[in-house]
Amino acid sequence: MTFAYRGLASASLLLAMGLPALAQTDVKIGYALAPDSHYGVAAARFEEVVTAETGDDFAFKHFPSSGLGGEREVIEGLQLGTIEATIVSSGTLANFVPDTGVFDIPFLFRDLDHARAVLDGQIGQDILAKFDDVGMHALAWGEQGFRHITNNRNAIETPADVEGLKLRTMENPVHLAAFNAMGAAPTPMAWPEVISSLQQGVIDGQENPLSVIVSVKLDEVQKYLTLSGHVYSPAVLLVSGPFWAGLDDDQKAVFEKAAAEAVAAMRDYVDNVETTGVETLRERGMEVNALSPEQKAAFQSSIASAYEGYYQTYGKDLVDSIVNFE
Ligand code: PAF
Repeated sequence: MTFAYRGLASASLLLAMGLPALAQTDVKIGYALAPDSHYGVAAARFEEVVTAETGDDFAFKHFPSSGLGGEREVIEGLQLGTIEATIVSSGTLANFVPDTGVFDIPFLFRDLDHARAVLDGQIGQDILAKFDDVGMHALAWGEQGFRHITNNRNAIETPADVEGLKLRTMENPVHLAAFNAMGAAPTPMAWPEVISSLQQGVIDGQENPLSVIVSVKLDEVQKYLTLSGHVYSPAVLLVSGPFWAGLDDDQKAVFEKAAAEAVAAMRDYVDNVETTGVETLRERGMEVNALSPEQKAAFQSSIASAYEGYYQTYGKDLVDSIVNFE
């Protein structure tokens, strides 16, 4: 008997007996972006699959657009068991599972296929398993795409163009080291503060993938977009440790299946915006430039000192095995 059928059958039986139906389990799912973003699309698919398989056992409540706070606060809510699920970037993840930081190293992945193969392979899955030690369960890697720089000061073609640029970064030490080495003036900041800080001129720019730049309409507050693709931006679908511990094995299997479909939907969204996003942003008035391979190599050289730190933290063997992964 499927969960859906079982749920309906037991609910009808209870009603026929004049008893109240069994309580549903709430699944509060928080994420930083709008319902029509790659996170929103994935969260909707997640709910759809769980509901199709379990009937009305779980009641999803969505909190898009940072409705439950910044990503760090939401992750802490998962650990406490006050929030059941989230889709988050790797922004603050390394504060909880330090090994995740290896995927934040700039110029690590050649393209989306390379990144997806590493995350879905042994290296990525071993790191996902570490979330169980810190009060969460990681269901699957999703993604945002490759991050690009937007700003209001000038077009960026060489590392000299980012000199002193007040650039918002995620609260992520790996990114911070790279932008410091590049000569920018990076300001780590939680996402909910970013738009107002750009509007008020507290910062000149920020960096995010096309999925975010398009869905948040950053063109309304930013003039220049440089397709720097300096770093891949993973995302992860997490559930709370206490919530996961309360599920039986069949329910766990359903959530795992739903997560796989959710991240597939997220990757489809990213594939689409990677092909259409630049045109959309040009139409909306942004000045867009792409870095040539030589220009990109100059940015890569400019962060050589940061790479020394990455090798020390994560081990050169691990970094090289990711770079050379076929
Ligand atoms: O820049 C960030 O903090 C993240 O990429 C965002 C926009 C919150 C999505 O997770």
